[in-house]
Amino acid sequence: MPKGFTLWFTGLSGSGKSTLANAVAQELQKQGRLIDLLDGDVVRQHLSKGLGFSKEDRDTNIRRIGFVAHLITRHGGVAITAAISPYRAIRDENRKLIGDFVEVYAKCPIEECEKRDVKGLYKKAREAVAAGKGMQFTGVDDPYEEPSKAEIVVDTSTCTVQDGVKIILDALNKLGYLEAGAAAGDDHRAHHEYVPDELLKKAEAAFKKAGKVHTDVLLKELHIGFSTAAHVIDKLAEQGKVSFKG
Ligand code: ADX
Repeated sequence: MPKGFTLWFTGLSGSGKSTLANAVAQELQKQGRLIDLLDGDVVRQHLSKGLGFSKEDRDTNIRRIGFVAHLITRHGGVAITAAISPYRAIRDENRKLIGDFVEVYAKCPIEECEKRDVKGLYKKAREAVAAGKGMQFTGVDDPYEEPSKAEIVVDTSTCTVQDGVKIILDALNKLGYLEAGAAAGDDHRAHHEYVPDELLKKAEAAFKKAGKVHTDVLLKELHIGFSTAAHVIDKLAEQGKVSFKG
């Protein structure tokens, strides 16, 4: 069995952690690896429901994610985490706990994240600061500590998702975490997995509503796991119903 590892993304909100994490997960799954994706926004709906954004709550959130990633890793799986994880010390705590830990810094200037402002939260945070209240928003009025020894740095303001995936897979290969000869596209499992028609229909509707094809949409809307979501996208793509450009 190949060795398990944790791919730990860190970076500002809007830096592209989830996008990269999803795209890498798709590729590794094609190589037959068992993946669990622990996305910050998704984790906060379940494992960390009720936690806020004080340093204490963020530390608790990151420790919980680290603990789950540790379990997945020691059983030979690949845990991919995508939370801001702003504090270096807690990331390093998880590095120690997990051992097979590969840190990926999704590096993007705050100006660019703020320009993207996918969720409109930077605008909200600036308004809160201007009103004298603040929002403890990472990079605006709360700290983000850049990694000092990340195994991988992807500058997401200048490279495409495909470039980023390639950088990450090359690095994982060099670090010895990929099986020799495991080629992208060498998919043993995905196409043989049974996916109920009802689920495909629901997924298609969710993508239409969200205006994008992304595993995130299914995790949030249908509360299914990452690997099922990936199968659903594969099936829909096979049937020509969606085109997924990871
Ligand atoms: S972490 O600091 O504990 O690692 P996490 O990744 O789980 O953060 O959650 C970050 C997400 O929560 C952001 O992408 C954003 O959508 C949302 N969010 C809401 N309030 C804040 C805030 N004050 N700071 C950062 N993110 C926030």
